[in-house]
Amino acid sequence: STADGVDTYEMTMRTQAKEILPGVRTELRTFNGQFPGPTIKARRNRPVVIRQRNELDVDVSVHLHGASVPPADDGGPMDVIAPGAERQYTYPNKQPHAPLWYHDHAHHLEAENVYRGLHGSYLLTDDEEEALPLPTDEYDVLIAIRDAHFDTATGALQYQMGDRARTTLLVNGAPYPYFKVAARSYRLRLANHSNQRFLELRLEDDSDMTQIASDGGLLPRPHTTKAVYLTSGERADVVVDFSRYPVGTRLVLKNTGFGAVEDVSQVMRFDVARTAQDNSSVPDVLRKLPPLPQPTAERTVVLSMDEDGRPDPKAYIDGKLYDHARVDAHIRSGASEIWTVTNANTKVPHNFHMHLVQFRVLERQGAAPRPEEEGLKDTVRLMPGETVKLQATFDAYRGEYVYHCHMLDHSAMGMMATMKIG
Ligand code: C2O
Ligand code: CU
Ligand code: CU
Repeated sequence: STADGVDTYEMTMRTQAKEILPGVRTELRTFNGQFPGPTIKARRNRPVVIRQRNELDVDVSVHLHGASVPPADDGGPMDVIAPGAERQYTYPNKQPHAPLWYHDHAHHLEAENVYRGLHGSYLLTDDEEEALPLPTDEYDVLIAIRDAHFDTATGALQYQMGDRARTTLLVNGAPYPYFKVAARSYRLRLANHSNQRFLELRLEDDSDMTQIASDGGLLPRPHTTKAVYLTSGERADVVVDFSRYPVGTRLVLKNTGFGAVEDVSQVMRFDVARTAQDNSSVPDVLRKLPPLPQPTAERTVVLSMDEDGRPDPKAYIDGKLYDHARVDAHIRSGASEIWTVTNANTKVPHNFHMHLVQFRVLERQGAAPRPEEEGLKDTVRLMPGETVKLQATFDAYRGEYVYHCHMLDHSAMGMMATMKIG
């Protein structure tokens, strides 16, 4: 509902059985019985209020990933909604446009809760984005991808930390769907909602896509590429021109995989079904990002985990397991800091996500960041042994927030820490 310049939503978290694989029903943890959760469309400077009621029998905490929100509305790991309780989250939406998403964050439960269905998209737009002649409306399509391991006989979702048998990819909740497109340009909003899987997305004919946005919205310039890399939690918008193909063409979007989880190749299919007019275009300049402020502090972060530590592997930040009672990074309000983040593992990839901020990637492995990393980011990949330098500015809110690996099985194993801005 909409009143007084605020959009209000009521959501109920509850179990719901759905037919995902043909002929069997899968029990899920859902927002409003939907899988994935409902897509929220928000506008800059127009607050959204979501009342969340927990009808599940586990704790939950709803986090808006990529958002700048006060600590009480961040959905932190310890700030849970108990079974039977409810909670109102207010999102100010003061930040620029960005393809955000929301998911459970209850500590030690987040990996399983998200895996069982507690994830959805939250698309924040603004005038800057809408002024561009990009494809809109039915030509602007969300493609949220995640993996799953089903018991194919019963349909039950199998959950086990670090499971390598999550070999069914779901697109907006459906296995290998096909999507009828017109022979024209589309904006595809790709999002990786998997717990752990790293995606490398390509069109089957290896033709070009134009990446226009990342986690924090539009890139400064479009980036032409054959592959889009998305670690768990990352987003990327691409424009694909289907007018290259005659009507009748069937084109698979495939995953050529990277990182530790084995390759699952087929994601979905586009069927070019008709011709259509197209007045959209991708400008050479998409966005002017404000200049980086002078950094006021520097710190390092080291990610590591037991590589052969089964059956109970632990994962660390700076050698420590997550402890909610400990503050790991004290940050002065208004500071702009350079964080040098290293993956100390030799076999296991990680990524690095910070709450509250959209940061800039300054360097990857001592060199310039990749072109798709030149915009605003909230999650950045760290292949084994890699180091990334980023800059974040803490001028929005004071209080405690977490930072962590967004391979959720790893954060649930302890790879999470607390920063306090004050
Ligand atoms: Cu996507 Cu701490 O979150
Ligand atoms: Cu987050
Ligand atoms: Cu990790």
